[in-house]
Amino acid sequence: MAIIDPFNRTIDYIRVSVTDRCNYRCDYCMPEQGYHPDGTHKEYLSYEEIARIVGAFVELGVSKVRLTGGEPLVRKQLTNLTGMLNEFEGLKDLSLSTNAHHLDKHAQELFDTGVRRVNVSMDSLQPKKFERITRGGDLAKVLAGIDKAIEVGMTPVKVNMVVMKGNNDDEIESMTDWAIEKGIELRFIETMPIGASGIAIMDQHYKAEDILQRVSNHVGARLIESESKAAAGPARHYQIEGTDAKIGIISAVSQHFCESCNRVRLTARGVLALCLGQEDSVNLRDPIRAGISDDELKAMILKAIEKKPERHFFNENVHNIQFREMVSLGG
Ligand code: GTP
Ligand code: 5AD
Ligand code: SF4
Repeated sequence: MAIIDPFNRTIDYIRVSVTDRCNYRCDYCMPEQGYHPDGTHKEYLSYEEIARIVGAFVELGVSKVRLTGGEPLVRKQLTNLTGMLNEFEGLKDLSLSTNAHHLDKHAQELFDTGVRRVNVSMDSLQPKKFERITRGGDLAKVLAGIDKAIEVGMTPVKVNMVVMKGNNDDEIESMTDWAIEKGIELRFIETMPIGASGIAIMDQHYKAEDILQRVSNHVGARLIESESKAAAGPARHYQIEGTDAKIGIISAVSQHFCESCNRVRLTARGVLALCLGQEDSVNLRDPIRAGISDDELKAMILKAIEKKPERHFFNENVHNIQFREMVSLGG
């Protein structure tokens, strides 16, 4: 079984946002006062509902599931969900994108319920600057969370750094050194025109090519481009010879990778979003609450996939994008 979209792309990856809340307030993502969407608890999918929808995707051929937020670890008892998902035989890769503030506490239980790898968002290694970027974040807790994830055996542990000109671009080299010391994969991300600050963030946009040049100047000939194992992913991969560190460069804006897009997103309220940069979406929550069968759910998913857009227009069309809250999509 495989899900094929109208542009002949195989969709084998779903990103599931379990909450649109977050304990941090990164200014490119969250408004300062936080994200307080209207509506009650009931508007959000229960873990059982999430598991049912993900189960349908897995039966249709999806093998990769990533839990995101907001911050997924602010939702209570996330391991109840991971435990349910871990039962699906066709699910080969269950992962989490987190700010790692609560990871220290939960890493072991997550690992035991099938989460074998994590991606951590961390934009600075300077405590004061980290606190400013996240509006209140605690770098020490994040670093402890990363260490714990490594300790319990999660692999790979990837760290995402959104590079912002005049903000943290002075840390490209020191973050690289830190990745070498830890032997982990560090991914530099171009800022995208989505999230709370919308288009304004693009003033701080730092081009992927320039990031790569800086890393290359810093580590010299040791930087080797590697064949991407997950060719469909957004990162270009490099190894630093003689170390365990890897470098990824995510050039979501300057070089979009839409032609190999393999993913869709499920929001915390049960809306299937077909593209990060476009509005096309289908509500799955209401039909499942109205009692549709599993076969009807699968048919609905396949029909929704027919609406998957060809690509985003962050570049050409930047001023026309309806800025959607990044938090409700989980990145
Ligand atoms: P891996 O499975 O480890 O490769 O994870 P991932 O890169 O899919 O997930 P992660 O949550 O770490 O996201 C990394 C960055 O890639 C974030 O900035 C995302 O917003 C960006 N990204 C992920 N998916 C897409 C996409 O479909 N389109 C675009 N333009 N950017 C994306
Ligand atoms: N541009 C680029 N990356 C972003 N993320 C959140 N908002 C943006 C943005 N506007 C990143 C987070 C996290 C990942 C899931 O998405 O830092 O690492
Ligand atoms: Fe929270 Fe991640 Fe958004 Fe920062 S980028 S506010 S950590 S969801």
